[in-house]
Amino acid sequence: MKKNIGAIVLLLIVTVSAYSQGNNYKQNYTKYQGLALTPPMGWNSWNKFACNVDENLIKQMADAMVSTGMKDAGYTYLNIDDCWHGDRDSLGFIHPDPKRFPSGMKALADYVHSKGLKIGIYSDAGSQTCGGRPGSRGYEFQDAQMYAKWGIDYLKYDWCNTEGLKQEGAYKTIAAALQKAGRPIVLSLCEWGQSNPWRWAGNVGHLWRSTGDITNQWEGVKSMGTWRALSVMKILESQDTLRKYAGPGRWNDPDMLEVGNGMPVNEDRAHFSMWAMIAAPLIAGNDLRNMSKATAEILMNKEVIAVNQDSLGVQALKYTTKDSLETWLKPLKGGDWAVTFLNRNSQPQQVDFDWQSRVINDDLSKATLDAKLGTYKVRDLWTKKDRGDTRKALKATVPAHDVLMLRLTKS
Ligand code: GLA
Repeated sequence: MKKNIGAIVLLLIVTVSAYSQGNNYKQNYTKYQGLALTPPMGWNSWNKFACNVDENLIKQMADAMVSTGMKDAGYTYLNIDDCWHGDRDSLGFIHPDPKRFPSGMKALADYVHSKGLKIGIYSDAGSQTCGGRPGSRGYEFQDAQMYAKWGIDYLKYDWCNTEGLKQEGAYKTIAAALQKAGRPIVLSLCEWGQSNPWRWAGNVGHLWRSTGDITNQWEGVKSMGTWRALSVMKILESQDTLRKYAGPGRWNDPDMLEVGNGMPVNEDRAHFSMWAMIAAPLIAGNDLRNMSKATAEILMNKEVIAVNQDSLGVQALKYTTKDSLETWLKPLKGGDWAVTFLNRNSQPQQVDFDWQSRVINDDLSKATLDAKLGTYKVRDLWTKKDRGDTRKALKATVPAHDVLMLRLTKS
């Protein structure tokens, strides 16, 4: 008996001392909950400015987000991509490039916040970023601490120079570091879909790149030497099968918008419409300080944005394809539907769609579109005009590389 009491006392001492030494600390490898409940909207420097970023550019872009109406249209995050970095100090803490960001990141974040916007930053899981700046490998907790101190709201975390690392572990490490730093930060995974992040990242980050890098081109790919940039249509082709992984707080990210970066206006319109349909993050990548009226009208079409930001958070399904005319459907909150006819052909295509003769069931969301059970009003989201209702078949012409985008509302 005495022996037993001795053993119990010893066990108690060991347990208590283990706890008092901090051995009860557990990493939390999950994302902050409650963020990005609809696809994030904002602006990012990469597509237009690549490595040419500095504090003046970011401040001017913050001003432009407000003066152009982008902020009011819902664009919130102002994200600095690669090349803001300076060196690490003797303790390992990262600092911005003092020439490009002489006022420091905290002052810049304060400026962006004073405009009612949020600020994002970029790092990389490897030893260096894709642009050759210091990566976060080995410094994850220190970097997260710095971001929190500066007031950062969004982190895009890239995947260059990651020899020997595995995606899931590396992204869980930065998620844990962000948790430890204590500031709610949206985590945007950027490993180009290589490890099928949709399978494991839903609880680690808020969005994950599902493809390689986009370029301002309609079809095909563009050789960039050691890698290939993908056109808008090429990216779209690979997104359909991923719809079941998306939802509030967890989005497939087919890369940032190229609207206003050189494609013809019809292609920009189709690009924006399809990104809205597939519940993609809407991160503009053009120069907001001097965008054309046509670009502004695309990026700030509130009815199209409403399709993207719908609180149901269901990614569109590709319903049919015929002669390069694709029909996409997105169930919306309250029984509405968005319907987009995308013409990939270089010739105009006719649409002849009889609502009465088909019943559309979405197995994923369990939504049903059956015009025989009730009439829907039909609204054209680009001409912003009503187009009758679903008692009559829809007949229309969709110009080349363009869309007809509709919203159906139960009447
Ligand atoms: C990768 C990313 C891009 C961009 C660049 C920056 O290519 O996929 O979106 O962030 O790096 O160097």
